[in-house]
Amino acid sequence: MKRICVIGSGYVGLVTGSCLSDLGNEVICVDNDKDKIAALKDLKMPIYEPGLEDIVKRNTKAGRLVFTTDLKRAVKDSEIIYITVGTPPKANGEADLSCVEDVSREVAFNMDSYRLIVDKSTVPVQTGQRVKETISRCLKKDIEFDVASNPEFLREGSAVDDFMHPDRIVIGVETERAADLLKEVYMPLNSTIIVTDIQSAELIKHAANSFLATKVSFVNALSVICEKTGADVDKVAEGMGMDKRIGSTFLKAGVGFGGFCFPKDVAAFVKIAEKLGYDFKLLKAVQEINKTQKERFIKKIENALWNIKGKKIAVLGLSFKPNTDDIRFAPSIDIIQALQKDGATINAYDPYAMDKMSKVLPKVKYCSSSYEAADGADALVIITEWSEFKELDLAKIKELLNDPIIVDGRNIYDPDVMRKQGFKYVCIGKKS
Ligand code: UDX
Repeated sequence: MKRICVIGSGYVGLVTGSCLSDLGNEVICVDNDKDKIAALKDLKMPIYEPGLEDIVKRNTKAGRLVFTTDLKRAVKDSEIIYITVGTPPKANGEADLSCVEDVSREVAFNMDSYRLIVDKSTVPVQTGQRVKETISRCLKKDIEFDVASNPEFLREGSAVDDFMHPDRIVIGVETERAADLLKEVYMPLNSTIIVTDIQSAELIKHAANSFLATKVSFVNALSVICEKTGADVDKVAEGMGMDKRIGSTFLKAGVGFGGFCFPKDVAAFVKIAEKLGYDFKLLKAVQEINKTQKERFIKKIENALWNIKGKKIAVLGLSFKPNTDDIRFAPSIDIIQALQKDGATINAYDPYAMDKMSKVLPKVKYCSSSYEAADGADALVIITEWSEFKELDLAKIKELLNDPIIVDGRNIYDPDVMRKQGFKYVCIGKKS
């Protein structure tokens, strides 16, 4: 059992802190947002993430997990300090590290004996070195400490499961003491632990996310060729993916990747490379393909409807992917805005993301079901592949729609079946 404090109760911090407490550690989750901490004390989750609420409730009751705004106390009471504060993108794509710097100072001011400071936020390579220098400068007396990098690979929607069953755990350290402490923390997970230097651990995170985004852009580019040649992108991806050297995941063509990680992390990696004097053209192409994939999807809707002006369009799925209410950098935002700009009115439905989206896109009519959204609409557009959309009563949908047009950005239906049912069905990377 270790005494751990996790600074920053956002997505990563909250999942990390609660899961670490579930492994038997005593965890203090800190955030400077008083409302968020008050809500968490009342066991109200600020995000929707399957399994999270149960873990928080269980460990809070057991007294292993507490929430506070008192960073000073948390640092004094913990041996291991995780930094999981936000590193949002600046206008030029670089990560804003001011919160990491502020927290490093605060930690230094409040340390009274050895501490291991673990960076889990997504940060540019060499941030660990900066954290170390900052702490050294701010320490009031000569206290030993270590800095480590322990990147997270949690996917939204399955973050708890990803934490508990990781493919690997990456630990970037400078001393054996730091490595041993982190190995002890993660021992209950029984997973492969890779120990590296700090810079390599930081780079693993950039490399992994950028490579996954590259796979998505590759298959999206492939979808264009499939449409032009009559091939089926899902079949091509299946055939490619069965080669173990390629792998079948992250080869699902769609409307382009979104979320708070891929767009931001790819942009940050391009910037990091630029600063280091390397033009990472491959990743720039990944970004460009992602942008055009969204534009192509909007064109598909326009083609299917002929004219957008005055049309009512039902949109199913707003979150950037299923099983999350996260709408940050969700493709749905750009797509809906483009349709509204062209004069369409939008009926939307999403199982979890409507609350958040209503603050970003107030002029949309938010519906209580897919059927309500489809009622009287001139077309149905699928942007996020929530499971419940795969189970829709399509005969009912056809009856409710003004025109039986479905534009599917996630290929959730079989085109032949849809056409037999009388739909004009347009999807990604297949013959229309
Ligand atoms: C990602 C990484 O997977 C995770 O390891 C890291 O810690 C955080 O960033 P996340 O952003 O939660 O996780 O979502 P992910 O499941 O990776 O999907 C990212 C985007 O790519 C989504 O918009 C998704 O719809 C899209 N995607 C993914 C595809 O379009 N096709 C695919 O085959 C896979």
